[in-house]
Amino acid sequence: MLGFSQAADNNKASILTVLSKYLQAGDVVLEVGSGSGQHALHMAQALPYVTWYPSEHPAALDTLKHNIEACGSDNIATPLSIDLVKDTWQKPLVDVVYAANIAHIVTPLLGERLVALARNALSGGGLLALYGPFKYAGAFTSESNARFEQWLKARDPRSGIRDFEWMLELASGHDMTLIEDHTMPANNQLLVFQSRKI
Ligand SMILES: C[S@@+](CC[C@H](N)C(=O)[O-])C[C@H]1O[C@@H](n2cnc3c(N)ncnc32)[C@H](O)[C@@H]1O
Repeated sequence: MLGFSQAADNNKASILTVLSKYLQAGDVVLEVGSGSGQHALHMAQALPYVTWYPSEHPAALDTLKHNIEACGSDNIATPLSIDLVKDTWQKPLVDVVYAANIAHIVTPLLGERLVALARNALSGGGLLALYGPFKYAGAFTSESNARFEQWLKARDPRSGIRDFEWMLELASGHDMTLIEDHTMPANNQLLVFQSRKI
């Protein structure tokens, strides 16, 4: 496994527990910013009735491809190249778009592009699942998230833990509504939005 992430290993089981409630036989999931692919590998192995499309920025794609080729199951597709800076979704519609720990890493503009890409990719009634830390009414949910924000800003001032209310606005601007906000271990959330049914 190249680029192993301890955090992804720690949170994959709790994310699977929540995601599996929403996934049905035959569903297709597009993951944006799959990183090392640990979530894709874990979810696809546990949910063999789902097809998982992992993706990454071109700069990180080789690592992801290596891990999926080495450890992947039949229901994981060859990783796609998706750069939120320039790519839009042109391929067939999917049932779920999943992105973990992306919104606070990328710029607000790219956060918006992530939501726009999801809207383009989702079939009517499809779901966008966003995992990561968020702020509520301008406040961090924990001291450790406040410290994490300082670390993020020192690394890139354009990154940062996003406001839950901002995510709601973005989603609403792209015809999606929040259906559930799951509180997850380690001060994270899993926000589940649904695109408008056609
Ligand atoms: C903190 S990592 C999260 C990885 C994985 N989802 C996880 O939870 O372990 C953030 C990911 O965002 C990806 N990323 C950064 N900029 C991106 C962009 N412009 N387009 C697509 N992905 C991007 C990075 O390559 C990286 O894998």
